[in-house]
Amino acid sequence: ISHKMTTWVKAHELAAKLYHHILTASDEGKEAREYLRKRGFTKEMIDHFQVGYAPNSWDFLTNFLEKRLDESHESLAESGLLALREKDKKPYDRFRDRIMFPIWNQRGKLIAFGGRILSEGQPKYLNSQESKVFNKSEVLYFFHQARPMIRKKSEAVLFEGYMDVISAWRAGIDNGIAAMGTALTEIQAKMIRRNADRVILCYDSDDAGLNATYKNAQILQKVGAEVVIATLPEGYDPDDYIRDKGPDRFVQDIINRHITFTAFKFHYFRRGKNLQLEGDRLNYIEQIIEEISLLPRAVERDYYLRQLAEEFSLSLEALKQEQIDIIKKQQ
Ligand code: UTP
Ligand code: MN
Ligand code: MN
Ligand code: MN
Ligand code: MN
Repeated sequence: ISHKMTTWVKAHELAAKLYHHILTASDEGKEAREYLRKRGFTKEMIDHFQVGYAPNSWDFLTNFLEKRLDESHESLAESGLLALREKDKKPYDRFRDRIMFPIWNQRGKLIAFGGRILSEGQPKYLNSQESKVFNKSEVLYFFHQARPMIRKKSEAVLFEGYMDVISAWRAGIDNGIAAMGTALTEIQAKMIRRNADRVILCYDSDDAGLNATYKNAQILQKVGAEVVIATLPEGYDPDDYIRDKGPDRFVQDIINRHITFTAFKFHYFRRGKNLQLEGDRLNYIEQIIEEISLLPRAVERDYYLRQLAEEFSLSLEALKQEQIDIIKKQQ
């Protein structure tokens, strides 16, 4: 690893310390402190995740790093911490007026930030751009810390956002991690799989979250993980639920009551369909039978076919025949 990359990690560590100090101990951090307090952040959470605040300034970090490091502006811009003005290449702070979440790589090196805007504004989260040290598709938020617990339990809980990982940690979920955004890559899936047999997927209960659950569960299954789904009531994400109902209920009602991926599909394929309509209903039944036919164990196939038969008042024999027809069609 080159000198440049070592310097970038050092720059990120310096920035994280500074942002954390601003958040926890300065006047400029007051509004951010108040915001996090309202969102249920404790001092313990802020410290454990080294959360910080980037003040609303164009040159705060730029000036600080200039004094502390002997590194060119170009290089620091390449690292993702600064940006260069188009017309004259003058450097400025990339992150302004944002709650800062440090992002570490697998080996615990601080290589990036995710920054949430304090007020309304776009984008809601600004993440470091990709760099020689930050490859989004190979990083999982908080994996370096959660990994021993993931190994010990042979289980990981995968969330959508930083906030969810942090709130769940407060609820006692110490094996929680998140991908950068919603799409999980095969590299990330393998990182998890190498440390755990099982993954609990706990994504937001909106369209984006449900679609990501469906996609990511398949990616995880492909690398050999057992996948179960912890579903939330419509409109909630894990962090919302914890704030609304409390950490204990989150564990009892959501995490511990996870369902199989097959059971999740029963709900998922229903969306956008009107099962009162014959066409939609037959379509749905066919989709589900197809899924059931892919299950490796006969008892499982039988269990879900019975469930389907019961719900739609169909005979088990008819469903079994349909299944045979579907399998024939596939061959
Ligand atoms: P969400 O929109 O669900 O954010 O995005 P959230 O964590 O619930 O945010 P709060 O509660 O409003 O603060 C989930 C994740 O998707 C990525 C971030 O990693 C975020 O944690 N994301 C989201 C972005 O990268 N950019 C965005 O603009 C939004
Ligand atoms: Mn601290
Ligand atoms: Mn979301
Ligand atoms: Mn969310
Ligand atoms: Mn949220």
